[in-house]
Amino acid sequence: MLNKKVSDLLNEQINKELYSGYLYLDMNNYFDKRGLNGFANWYMIQAQEERDHAMLIYKYMQNNDCPIKLEAIAKPDKKFKSDMEVLQAGLEHEEYVTASIHTIYDAAYKVKDFRTMQFLDWFVKEQGEEETNARDMITKMELFGSDPKSLYMLNQELAARTYNAPSLVLD
Ligand code: FEO
Repeated sequence: MLNKKVSDLLNEQINKELYSGYLYLDMNNYFDKRGLNGFANWYMIQAQEERDHAMLIYKYMQNNDCPIKLEAIAKPDKKFKSDMEVLQAGLEHEEYVTASIHTIYDAAYKVKDFRTMQFLDWFVKEQGEEETNARDMITKMELFGSDPKSLYMLNQELAARTYNAPSLVLD
């Protein structure tokens, strides 16, 4: 059993990760409608990864006898007016998730919960990668998004992304 505050924050994080998956599905839908299947693929894989994140926290809580309460997942309510708006919303969201993970880490640190800190190390690294990926997408779109041929090639590049299960495994 973990410290109550740490446990409550982990519980909230399950919801945030599932919401992230929902948000990325919405982004997948935006690009699917745009006919940019590579971008749509990229966000579909993001959505799968977010579910993985939620499941890792869920399993960690179960393994540590924490009470789990599944709350309603909010609906994504952003209306995207351009491709760039989607990409920027993705980066903003990842920065928000990073702050949220750091808040849990801080709570664990304060009560010397070394187990949870070690568990969260993977998420801290993952968030760094997620933010880098989101920034790279924005940079590429700034450079190539206004030229149809370049946009086509960028779309092809993103179409090649494949899903990989997370490197962190919990039994
Ligand atoms: Fe699970 Fe994209 O943070």
